[in-house]
Amino acid sequence: MKSLRNQLTVWSVGLLTLVGLIAGGISYLLAQKGAGVFLDHQLRLVAGSVDEGSQLPAMQTRFLGESEQQRQYGFVIQVSLPKEAVRSSRPDFDLPVGKASGYSEQVYQGEKWRIYTIVYPDRTVQVSQADAVRRAIASDAALFASLPIAGLLPLCWVLVAFGVKRILKPLADVTLAVTLRDARSLTPIAAKGIPAEAAPLITEINSLLLRIQESMESQRHFVLDAAHELRTPLAALQLQIDNLSQSLSPEDMNVRINELRFGMQRASHIVAQLLKMARYEGESESIRSRLDLGELVKHCISTLIPVAEKSGIDLGMVRDDKASISANADDLRILFDNLLDNAIHYTQDGGKVDVAVEVSGSRAAVSIVDNGCGIPEELLPRVFDRFFRAGNNKAEGSGIGLAIVNAIARRENAEVRLANRQDAKGLIVTVSFDLHAL
Ligand SMILES: Nc1ncnc2c1ncn2[C@@H]1O[C@H](COP(=O)(O)OP(=O)(O)OP(=O)(O)O)[C@@H](O)[C@H]1O
Ligand SMILES: [Mg+2]
Repeated sequence: MKSLRNQLTVWSVGLLTLVGLIAGGISYLLAQKGAGVFLDHQLRLVAGSVDEGSQLPAMQTRFLGESEQQRQYGFVIQVSLPKEAVRSSRPDFDLPVGKASGYSEQVYQGEKWRIYTIVYPDRTVQVSQADAVRRAIASDAALFASLPIAGLLPLCWVLVAFGVKRILKPLADVTLAVTLRDARSLTPIAAKGIPAEAAPLITEINSLLLRIQESMESQRHFVLDAAHELRTPLAALQLQIDNLSQSLSPEDMNVRINELRFGMQRASHIVAQLLKMARYEGESESIRSRLDLGELVKHCISTLIPVAEKSGIDLGMVRDDKASISANADDLRILFDNLLDNAIHYTQDGGKVDVAVEVSGSRAAVSIVDNGCGIPEELLPRVFDRFFRAGNNKAEGSGIGLAIVNAIARRENAEVRLANRQDAKGLIVTVSFDLHAL
């Protein structure tokens, strides 16, 4: 993983160095150019200040205490008068005197010279300076001009490293606080002093922590509720076992064994429902395939017909539109089993449960209509809650069926609606699917 701090430091230092080098280079070139212009100007001034009476070579030989090297840096002045030998400030220097005024360059004794010539009517004055000397002076000036930048660069690097560390300190503080916190702690991370760019990350982490906290809380409640729900049937079982030993006759024994069997069935039904609940509330993704909705519903009906027949309930399909949907068949079977089971359970003996598959536009809907007791309107919003029972019927139940239906519907992107019938007593449950959903 790349370190933000290292990247920021490397980029800033790199950029500063590049800018420093360019600025240094430009200063160097400008100082060099400036020195050239200045030396040319000097050359012209010296040439202009030499008059015909100047005593050459005595005038410009060597100043008191001037070294040979320093003398080299100076100018060589030549004055040419008609009918006289050319006078020169350096006797060994006899560069031919130019014919026109102005700057020129010449190679003399294997060395390049910069020359300024002034042609007067009665004399010609020529001042020369070795190009190597000029270049040395210009380079020195340029070097001095770029020296401050070179000196400041390392200081900038240190300041950048320090600045980056300081800017990222709040992030480092958060990391430390998260590292040191208790593994079970789900309190929000303090976002004080956090840079604006990192704040959304902290907000997201905090909202995730909140969701985890809610989910843990809901799991804790689930376990408590489940234990509570199981306590009653288990206590009943205990009582029935105790009763069994006190049976007076074989007939009495048979009745009590049947009660025990029923109690066992009830307890194992609750456990089975709890297991399904835990599974569907936990999993979010399902493996889907295209399936025929009518076929699936018919299969669920066929498995429940024996149960319905026991109570003389007429369970059947009244409409079967062709509908192909994308869903998980096992999930849908559990969903419809629960809804059909409710319709049978909460409908009095001899009642009727009509199932219909209907396609309209881009949606397919399965409706289960019974003529049972229905659910009091004010309790309808609560029937999807875990362990909630409307208490509208004596039929046994754990109150988990519709919570499972709800969890599966969410997974399968289906919509479940419960409504009391308007035309008669009974409930209408509609499960609708998007035909084009993948
Ligand atoms: N078709 C229906 N007619 C009348 N009441 C219903 C119907 N379906 C559900 N209910 C009411 O809603 C409550 C919740 O139903 P749910 O299926 O969640 O639990 P249950 O049937 O009591 O138990 P479980 O299905 O877990 O065995 C039921 O107790 C019942 O009061
Ligand atoms: Mg049920």
